[in-house]
Amino acid sequence: MIVAAKHKIIIDTDTAGDDAAALILAAKSDTVQILGVTVAAGNVSLDQAALNSLAALELAGCDAPVYLGATAPLSGEEKECFSVYGRDGMGEADIIHPKGRPQSKGAIDYILDTVRENPGEIEIVALGPVTNIALAIRKDRETMMKVKRIWSMGTAGFGPGNATPVAEFNVYKDAPAYKVMLELGVPVTVIGLDMDDEPTWTDEAKLEEMKKGSEIQRFIATATRKLLEFKKGNGIPAVDLPDAVAMGCLVWPDFVEETTLCYGSCITDPGETYGMVIFYKEGFTYDSMPKIGKCNVSVVTKAKKNEFVDRLNAVYRS
Ligand code: RIB
Ligand code: CA
Repeated sequence: MIVAAKHKIIIDTDTAGDDAAALILAAKSDTVQILGVTVAAGNVSLDQAALNSLAALELAGCDAPVYLGATAPLSGEEKECFSVYGRDGMGEADIIHPKGRPQSKGAIDYILDTVRENPGEIEIVALGPVTNIALAIRKDRETMMKVKRIWSMGTAGFGPGNATPVAEFNVYKDAPAYKVMLELGVPVTVIGLDMDDEPTWTDEAKLEEMKKGSEIQRFIATATRKLLEFKKGNGIPAVDLPDAVAMGCLVWPDFVEETTLCYGSCITDPGETYGMVIFYKEGFTYDSMPKIGKCNVSVVTKAKKNEFVDRLNAVYRS
């Protein structure tokens, strides 16, 4: 039987509850090898994102190193958003007490050194604002052209946004960085918010079951308790884990059922469309015949979403 080689990945994250869910999923999956984790501010501060990452990795028995990255967006201008995950990003339940600490080396240099030493082999999984990736591209574009693939939990996909009606949080927090990433030209797989809809949500009954389950299930149920409060305030008694859905698209080879090859255009102009990413489908004849660039973006448009919650909990119980 031919066994597919493991994906060699760097996970770039702004670690809150759903990022932690994704980190643990990756750490417990035998289809990926986590070489390192780089953190950026986003859901929470840089330092909190590092602590949350370390705690999640330790819980999963993973000793991957964690590197500190950007504290502010590429533009320097912070886009104010509130954390729906609580001040610590992990449910404000005092569950974050990692033994480890971040490395002294910076995230940007770690990304560049790792890609330089493994040309054509490294895949970056971006679960937060992509400031670190953009800074690495700006520092050494030639090296970053040797990234095998970027997997991005980002954009609204072909649906509505969450930061604004048209913009998704990770892009909205640093749209110039997302534009730099898309325009690098390496293959990007985008898992947008439209892949994070109701079939992938964990409802209250499941969360109650998780509270009586494994240590990992209890950790995730606690880490997302503030998110549940926020969602219930919007009339949805369930939590969504977009970063874990994105990670599932990578670690489970059969989870993705369809992708659509596109050119992605990220809007960075100030105003109501800031942070919107427009996807031009390859081969589609638009009436206006826009001048578009290289179609390097595979947008996930179908996945086995109904299986997500059960698959995730099977991993958390293992
Ligand atoms: O819009 C969802 C994304 O924003 C997720 O990555 C979540 O963790 C937040 O970073
Ligand atoms: Ca995130």
